[in-house]
Amino acid sequence: MKPVSIIPAPRRVTPGKEPLPSFSRLIPEANADAEGELRVFREQLPELFESPSLPEALQLRIELSPGGNANNEETYSLSLSPTGIMVRSPGTKGLYHGLQSLRQLLLAGREEGGRWTLPCLEIDDGPRFSWRGFMLDCSRHFYSLSFIKKAIDAASLHHLNVFHWHLTDDQGWRLPVKGYPLLTEIGAFRHDSKTTWQDLVVGGFYTHEEIREVVRYAAERHVEVVPEVDLPGHASAILAAYPNLGCTGGPYRVEDRYGIFEDVLCAGNDDIFPFFAAVFDTLSELFPSKYVHIGGDEVKFNRWKECPKCRSRLAELKLGETHRLQSWITVRLANMLEDRGKTPIGWDEVLEGTEVLGLPKDMIVMSWRGQEGGIEASRRGHRVIMTPLTEGCYLNFNHLDSPEEPGHLETATVAKSYAMDPAAPGMSSGEEALILGGQCNLWSEVIYASRIAEYMLFPRMGAIAEGLWSPREIRSLESFKERLPAYGKVLDALDLTHYRGPLQ
Ligand code: ACM
Ligand code: ZN
Repeated sequence: MKPVSIIPAPRRVTPGKEPLPSFSRLIPEANADAEGELRVFREQLPELFESPSLPEALQLRIELSPGGNANNEETYSLSLSPTGIMVRSPGTKGLYHGLQSLRQLLLAGREEGGRWTLPCLEIDDGPRFSWRGFMLDCSRHFYSLSFIKKAIDAASLHHLNVFHWHLTDDQGWRLPVKGYPLLTEIGAFRHDSKTTWQDLVVGGFYTHEEIREVVRYAAERHVEVVPEVDLPGHASAILAAYPNLGCTGGPYRVEDRYGIFEDVLCAGNDDIFPFFAAVFDTLSELFPSKYVHIGGDEVKFNRWKECPKCRSRLAELKLGETHRLQSWITVRLANMLEDRGKTPIGWDEVLEGTEVLGLPKDMIVMSWRGQEGGIEASRRGHRVIMTPLTEGCYLNFNHLDSPEEPGHLETATVAKSYAMDPAAPGMSSGEEALILGGQCNLWSEVIYASRIAEYMLFPRMGAIAEGLWSPREIRSLESFKERLPAYGKVLDALDLTHYRGPLQ
């Protein structure tokens, strides 16, 4: 049987017997608790609801009802038959996922002249992992609100449920923080000397109203927005705004180069703590998610080794090795978040230098340099999110090893991204139970435009989504490839037309 054209593949599909007649519109009906999901679905496919005068309507019923899978509100069933369409779930999340599977089938089956066809089948579906994420770096390149929304909508089409918003880095700070106006007045803009024919200032920030709008838009699509502020490294933009927070006092600049920089926040300066508090207060106000990502990756320690303030801090704390100051900062950050009812997430470097102070128990480790960090974290009892660059999760890597490709660093073919599995081989069942899931990341050093972002994201976002959603037993690269032509039709309909083609 030809696989049903949904990415990620549903866990169970039962073909029906009678073919569905083609139709030109849907007559929707939803119980009161499902009205929000129906409203978004109507916005996503307005042409299916707009023409009451057209004949050949099909019934669409959306029903929140406890079924066999009442313990997981992300599960759903979708039934397509000549008598109509029925989406059922014990939770609104599951209803949304069911409607997104239906959206894919509809867009893949759209015909000329405003007619639609659907296969006759029953689907019973639900996720393998609870954390299915997508990260967008909005520091190295500042993306518009409209692109961010488009990307969130596309992520939700694939049943992804977390938008990890990388808001700060050396090349730009994008979050206005009360009491620290220079973060956005100075830290959000850089002189782009790579554009040599003029001194171009590039950048921007998201106003609190815009951030709330993104959070609201994502929530309607059952996507949780998890903000990241990268601390205490990747700090050039912070230091350009507030040089007193660095070890040397500057001068600093918002970086237009890419790489890992020596200047980080000064671990010996108590002024960093009110700064962290102001940032976390802002995040708590804007983001309802219980998670805050504190970064922690690629911190250089040379400044701390030379800085008198950092050296006396180290002596006072009796930590021994300089790099353990990072663990001290991590503990402080985690405590500050706990005070605000939040759970910290850190890149896998937070596991290092923890011999003296340990790592706070509720810290979630995001494993990016490989799966090893995640394996170690789970052995130490921490929850883990897998996003290893070695396994095709970095979508800024090139699709192919070719100088024609617009990405950088390494290659992540569709097949490689498809093979990503958050449960690393050799994990015990106890360790595997700590794997919340995984995500794909789009770092934007060389992704200058949203159309290039589309090229990098698709179809690999679909490949990663299948690894996070579909049961291991049913995954098949061959089947995924067979579904790609229909997937291309779906992406075209969503004006995500720059996906990489021909789809391999
Ligand atoms: C990272 O890629 N530096 C987390
Ligand atoms: Zn210092």
